[in-house]
Amino acid sequence: AIAGQRHRHESAAAHVTGTALYTEDLAHRLAGVLHAYPVQSTIAHARILGLDASGALAVPGVVQVITAADIPGVNDQGAKHDEPLLPVDEVMFYGQPVAWVLGEDLEAAKAGARAVSVDYEPLESLITVQDAIKASSFHGIQPVIQKGDWEAGFEQAAHVFEGDFDFAGQEHFYLETQNSLALIDENGQLLIHCSTQHPTETQDIVSHVLGVPAHEISVQVLRMGGGFGGKEMQPHGYAAIAALGAKLTGHPVRVRLDRTLDMTMTGKRHGFYASWKIGFDAQGRILALDAQLTADGGWSLDLSEPVLTRAMCHIDNSYWIPNIRVAGRVAKCHKTSQTAFRGFGGPQGMLVIEDILGRVAPQLGINASQLRRLNFYTEGQDTPYYQPVRHPERIEAAWQQVLDGADVARREAEIAEFNANSRYSKRALAITPVKFGISFNLTAFNQGGALVLVYKDGSVLVNHGGTEMGQGLHTKMLQVAATSLGVPLSSVRIAPTRTDKVPNTSATAASSGSDLNGGAVKDACEQIQGRLAQVAAGKLGVPAADIRFAHGKITGLGKAEVLEFNDVVREAYMQRIQLSAAGYYRTEGLHWDLSRMTGSPFKYFAYGVAASEVEVSSFDGSYVLRRVDIVHDVGDSLSPLIDLGQIEGGFVQGTGWLTLEDLRWDTSDGPGRGRVATQAASTYKIPSFSEMPEVFNVALLDKAHEEGAVYGSKAVGEPPLMLAFSVREALRQAVAAFGPEGSSVQLASPATPEAVFWAIDSVRG
Ligand code: MTE
Ligand code: HPA
Ligand code: CA
Repeated sequence: AIAGQRHRHESAAAHVTGTALYTEDLAHRLAGVLHAYPVQSTIAHARILGLDASGALAVPGVVQVITAADIPGVNDQGAKHDEPLLPVDEVMFYGQPVAWVLGEDLEAAKAGARAVSVDYEPLESLITVQDAIKASSFHGIQPVIQKGDWEAGFEQAAHVFEGDFDFAGQEHFYLETQNSLALIDENGQLLIHCSTQHPTETQDIVSHVLGVPAHEISVQVLRMGGGFGGKEMQPHGYAAIAALGAKLTGHPVRVRLDRTLDMTMTGKRHGFYASWKIGFDAQGRILALDAQLTADGGWSLDLSEPVLTRAMCHIDNSYWIPNIRVAGRVAKCHKTSQTAFRGFGGPQGMLVIEDILGRVAPQLGINASQLRRLNFYTEGQDTPYYQPVRHPERIEAAWQQVLDGADVARREAEIAEFNANSRYSKRALAITPVKFGISFNLTAFNQGGALVLVYKDGSVLVNHGGTEMGQGLHTKMLQVAATSLGVPLSSVRIAPTRTDKVPNTSATAASSGSDLNGGAVKDACEQIQGRLAQVAAGKLGVPAADIRFAHGKITGLGKAEVLEFNDVVREAYMQRIQLSAAGYYRTEGLHWDLSRMTGSPFKYFAYGVAASEVEVSSFDGSYVLRRVDIVHDVGDSLSPLIDLGQIEGGFVQGTGWLTLEDLRWDTSDGPGRGRVATQAASTYKIPSFSEMPEVFNVALLDKAHEEGAVYGSKAVGEPPLMLAFSVREALRQAVAAFGPEGSSVQLASPATPEAVFWAIDSVRG
């Protein structure tokens, strides 16, 4: 079947030759487009006493200044109604847009923005999660997961440890910044080209900002130059500004953030503060965990609540914890509103348990890899929220496949030898597992739609509700459509994602794009195929059930005659048989009770294991990633090349989060208080070629068919990010090797060379 074959990304050639179009390119093709530029707050928290736009209107080329007063509908860009699109009387973070200036060109809009004057009365500001905790500044829900008797667990425990951990978030740094282009027709109908992972929600937000019904707004996504969760909620406000500008002026309006605007205005991965107490039996088995997770939510909620709940649902990672209590809350402070980012809280929850195990293993006198393996889930056990863990043997299988494939036993002996003979540099190898729940926690989001059109010539056009951000969803959907219709890949094309083709879609998020839209595309294709089978059955004189479709040919069981797919399509048209179908899919068997934090929210778990080897220098804490071996479970891969790319990319992005990317805010009491200090590539380091592992082996887990998922495949987008824990744990172990035998190491996150240097300093005493 075409599903399961190795195919390159459908736009690979266009990506690398620069011919692939993005929202930005569409704007260049139009005349008379107005540019929008924001007036940004220069203070973290303040009352707005006055705003004077007259200076801007005097600037040549400035067409209009948009303020809160111009909003005809609801002044809100979030799903929680706590996020005004433009502030009325209070600014909540440094860099917040207070007004937008529309200019005939970008320079005019910028000059206009500089000429707007805003009068502020400063208010007290909370910048760090610790500031918020001290001030008891929280927002949203405060859920608790509870199972077993954790207090009794601590009483029975042979070893009890307590600690805390404050770790950083992450900037998305998608290559294409936020971008929207709004066009209006003579009836006021709006078409918005938008770089959004969630076209339906963009449509909803624009519709309520403008105070018009959803059918007046269409949102189209051709492709994104990366989203990584940063375009799940964040695009809506910019799309709304473009739409409002178009409505007010009648001109096309574009909003395109440059890198610094993007980094200073948009939400990031949540940093967290975690405090914990853990108990083990004499053999090192976890008996009880009591933890509190505080997510650094920023000024508004946006997705902070579901991020928090996913974090809480992943604090177990791959480990059986019989007695547990996890409490969660979202800190409210005067920063960008933190949001979805690949893994969506899962990485943060899992980082907490991995950090705990890495820290306490030496104190338990157990090798960290053994401690991890000892605590893996086994058949019949369930998660802290009571979902049975299916196929836990795959964690062990992937672990074993890594041990064998990466020659771990021999290399560990070599590393010990190297360390014994090397004073200023040390090596270490760490292995960590991943278990990640697939589906949106909120059951309602687990649905997908498609509209498949077969034209009279037999060519096929697929519309589906998912968006392409480089992850290869369209490639997979082409493979699904070609497989289920039995036509060659070359007969199928994908149309840009549009809300007027497939309505009420879920975000392309939670790694669920292929599962949900693949199910819907397959459903639509099967409907059409069923009708074509009737036509072919008539021609071949066999029952429709005996008709087979493959490679663009149609045959009947026991008949030698071969029909062309295209001819049968033509015949169906002549017989007035419908050649298009709307497909639909919903994930069955899910349930989730948010108030009790119990249920089976996930269709299945994706598993993986990584082994990473590092070498650390004690002179400056610098390190190299010598070798990485990954075995990851994607079920029966829909598209192996795409999946390998996702695994590599996810791993590297996770390594960036944990080792390089160091977001800093100004926490001084000076005039820059609350400003994002890292607002360009010059101060914010993402992984590049020089940080790639010297040896990088990725394999797919064998015999991993997933029953009930599209062609037996599993989601791949987010889970591999968390394989990067192996790098952080290897760094910890290398640092420990500089200290006395059995040193327990506390490592900051990100573990930058500077942080590693200080950890070495501390372990040496
Ligand atoms: N891969 C690329 N190249 N670019 C991206 O923006 N986003 C990731 C992942 N892989 C992303 C990516 C995130 S955050 C998710 S949730 C999934 O892709 C979304 O797509 P899927 O559901 O089709 O896997
Ligand atoms: N990832 C995981 N879970 C989610 C997401 C996401 O991006 N969005 C909503 N739930
Ligand atoms: Ca937030």
